[in-house]
Amino acid sequence: MKIAVYGASGYQGKLVLTELARRDIETVLAGRNRARLEEAASAIGLPDAERRSADASDHEALVSAFRGCDAVINCAGPFTSSGEAVVRAAIAAGCHYVDTSGEQLYVKKIFDTFTTEAENAGVTVVPAANDGCVPVDLMAHILADRLEPVEEIITTHVVVGGGGMSRGSLRSVVETIDAIKAGGLAYTDGDWHPGVPARRTAITLPGQSEATPVMAFPVPEVVTIPRHIRVRRVQGLTEAALGDRLNTPLTPEIIESLPEGPDGDGRRTQHFTYVLDATGIDGRRARGIVQGPDTYGTTAVIAVEGARRLIAEPAKPGVLAPAQAYPSTAFLDFLVPHGIQWIIEDAPAT
Ligand SMILES: NC(=O)c1ccc[n+]([C@@H]2O[C@H](COP(=O)([O-])OP(=O)(O)OC[C@H]3O[C@@H](n4cnc5c(N)ncnc54)[C@H](OP(=O)(O)O)[C@@H]3O)[C@@H](O)[C@H]2O)c1
Repeated sequence: MKIAVYGASGYQGKLVLTELARRDIETVLAGRNRARLEEAASAIGLPDAERRSADASDHEALVSAFRGCDAVINCAGPFTSSGEAVVRAAIAAGCHYVDTSGEQLYVKKIFDTFTTEAENAGVTVVPAANDGCVPVDLMAHILADRLEPVEEIITTHVVVGGGGMSRGSLRSVVETIDAIKAGGLAYTDGDWHPGVPARRTAITLPGQSEATPVMAFPVPEVVTIPRHIRVRRVQGLTEAALGDRLNTPLTPEIIESLPEGPDGDGRRTQHFTYVLDATGIDGRRARGIVQGPDTYGTTAVIAVEGARRLIAEPAKPGVLAPAQAYPSTAFLDFLVPHGIQWIIEDAPAT
C-alpha cells in the first residue's frame, strides 16, 4: 500500500506523515516546494521516503506525482483555491482520495463536480476526512437507523478549547469568511440553501445545565448527511460567542507572525465536542455526542485510516460521504483507543 500526501510540508501534512509512519505505510511526500518537502522529511525522520514536487496549477505534474500510489491524502489548504486541481489529478492517476478540508462550499463542489469522473475511473473520493465531519456523519447514520424518516438534524460544533488554530486553518477561515458570517448552507426539502436562519437560538450542551446561545455555521456534514439519510432539514450551528471573534481582522501578516500550529502541549490541551440532535417525523428524538482531544492529531488518524480503508476494504466508486464509504460503528470504535468518546442517547420526544 502506497499513499501520497499532498501538502506534506504543512502542519497537518506533517502530522499525517507521522501517523503513516506509525502505521508503517509506504508514503510519498508531495507538494509544490521541493525544499519544504525536504525539511518535512527530515523533521519527521523519513530520509528514505520518496519526494515528488508538483504545483497545483500543473495537472500533468500532479498526475505524475500521484501515479503508482493507491491513494492521495490532500492536506493543502485552503482547499477552496487549489483543492479541485488535486482531486482531478488524483482521479486521473487512478488514486482514491481523501482530504482534511472543512470548507463547506468546497466540499459541496467536489460532490457536484467529480461524482461521475470518479465513478468512471473506479476510485472513491471522500472530502472532509477530518475530526468533525467523519464522526458526526457516521453518528448521523446510526441515529437515522433509529429515527428514519428524519425531520431534522442539527449539528453543533462547540468552540474547541485549549491550544490554538493552525495558520492553515486561519487561512481557510479568511478565505471563506463571507460564507461563515452568512451561516453557510442549510439543507431543506431536497436541496441546499444559503441564508437560512438558525433553527435554534440556544442549545443545552453536554455537561451544562443552562442553554448556550448558538448561530448558524457552515459545517461540511450539512453537505454529506443528506446523501445517505432521508431527512427534511440539516443545519450546522456553533456557539454564538464565535461571532465576536470573526470580527477580529486577520491579515496575512498577522497569520504569518503566529506559530505554525499548536505544539505538542497545546494539542494535548485541545478538547473538541460535536453534538448531533436528530428528530424523527414522529417526534422521537436522539442525541449523538463525540468528544476528544487534539483536533489536528485526530484528523491525521482519521485521514490515514480513511485512506487505508478505501484501499484495503474498497467502497463503491464516486464521491462519497463518510457513512457511504465506511461502516459507521466500526470506524467510530476504531477511534476510541485514540481518545475519542462517542455516545448516542435517546431524548424526550417532542
Ligand atoms: N476540522 C477541520 O475542518 C480541519 C481539521 C484539520 C485541518 N483542516 C484543514 O487542513 C488544511 C491544512 O492546514 P495546515 O495547518 O496544515 O496548513 P499549513 O501549515 O499552512 O500547510 C498547508 C500546506 O498546503 C500547501 N499549499 C497551500 N496552498 C497551496 C497551493 N495553492 N498549491 C499547492 N500547495 C499548497 C503548503 O505548501 P508550502 O509548504 O509549499 O507552503 C503546505 O504544505 C487547512 O485548510 C485546515 O483548515 C481542517
